[in-house]
Amino acid sequence: MSKPRLYSGMQPSADSLQVGNYIGALMQWRDLQEAYDAYFSVVDLHALTQPNDPAELREKTRRTAAQYIAAGIEPSKSTLYVQSHVAAHPELAWILSTITGFGEAGRMTQFKDKSARYGVDTTSVGLFTYPVLMAADILLYQTDIVPVGDDQKQHVELTRDLAERFNSRYGQTFKVPMPVIQQDTARIYDLQNPTAKMSKSAESDAGTLWLLDDPAVSAKKIMRAVTDSEGAVHYDREQKPGVSNLLVIYAALTGRQIPSIEDEYAGRGYGDFKKGLAEVVVNEFGPVRARALELLDDKAELDRVLAANADRAAEVAGRTLDDVYDRVGL
Ligand code: ADP
Ligand code: NA
Repeated sequence: MSKPRLYSGMQPSADSLQVGNYIGALMQWRDLQEAYDAYFSVVDLHALTQPNDPAELREKTRRTAAQYIAAGIEPSKSTLYVQSHVAAHPELAWILSTITGFGEAGRMTQFKDKSARYGVDTTSVGLFTYPVLMAADILLYQTDIVPVGDDQKQHVELTRDLAERFNSRYGQTFKVPMPVIQQDTARIYDLQNPTAKMSKSAESDAGTLWLLDDPAVSAKKIMRAVTDSEGAVHYDREQKPGVSNLLVIYAALTGRQIPSIEDEYAGRGYGDFKKGLAEVVVNEFGPVRARALELLDDKAELDRVLAANADRAAEVAGRTLDDVYDRVGL
């Protein structure tokens, strides 16, 4: 029996990933890669929907791949590759775009939000068709499951609709994938603004813990994290979003349950609790950072690993694309 397929990816939109990416995605990917035949992509074609300096984009792509590996994604176990290295992605996206309704694409809330923010004249067609490229990413690999955050759920629904539409028009071609939506407890918030999601693209990075931050910088950010005046280490998302967020990070990185952490810090102040968390964070990310920097020290070797993985991906994707071309009459 072959293992079920899994597909996921992240945009190379910053020099470093942040702790939310690690807890909400990479830790889960690392576990899932055992039971699944997993494809993990650095989606650089998607990143082009934002303005980018070419040399910086290339470097961010490498850095993102290095952090996947440093976090425990094994390129011998999973297929870890750069999206633009596999030409089948934009090729299939074009074909899927011809069966996607203009109105259907226009209903994607992420597009509506972004185009409203930037205005129609600075919104590219690429941003509009982004979900169609994402559908191609997923469908090329005959994917069974797609682990994603809440914000991507609508795009996976569109992917399912396109797969079903294509299959009913041209015959069984694509597996219809299932989204696996991230647990609420895996959601990490900004340390300075604990009701906003921690993000690579926050306006200020004072509340962002970067994977590649110097440990002393991470510790300082944790010591300065927003809390409340109650002084009790207690989980309550509504009343105590700052402390709750720190508890979630602590629990996720240690594998401990939140009540056991609350017990440990009962009757002690936030200072002690933050010191404890800073230690947990430094212990977890010290080795990840060191490994990522080591990988980035030998770019030729990293590029070689990524090229070999792209070859593997291209073989699987190429089979699906051949079938698609055949069915549509190309
Ligand atoms: P970012 O906002 O950092 O650019 P993305 O939207 O590119 O992150 O998401 C990449 C992956 O990381 C997704 O699987 C997403 O669910 C996860 N992720 C991003 N931010 C967080 C967060 N704050 N908490 C938990 N998971 C997150
Ligand atoms: Na695997």
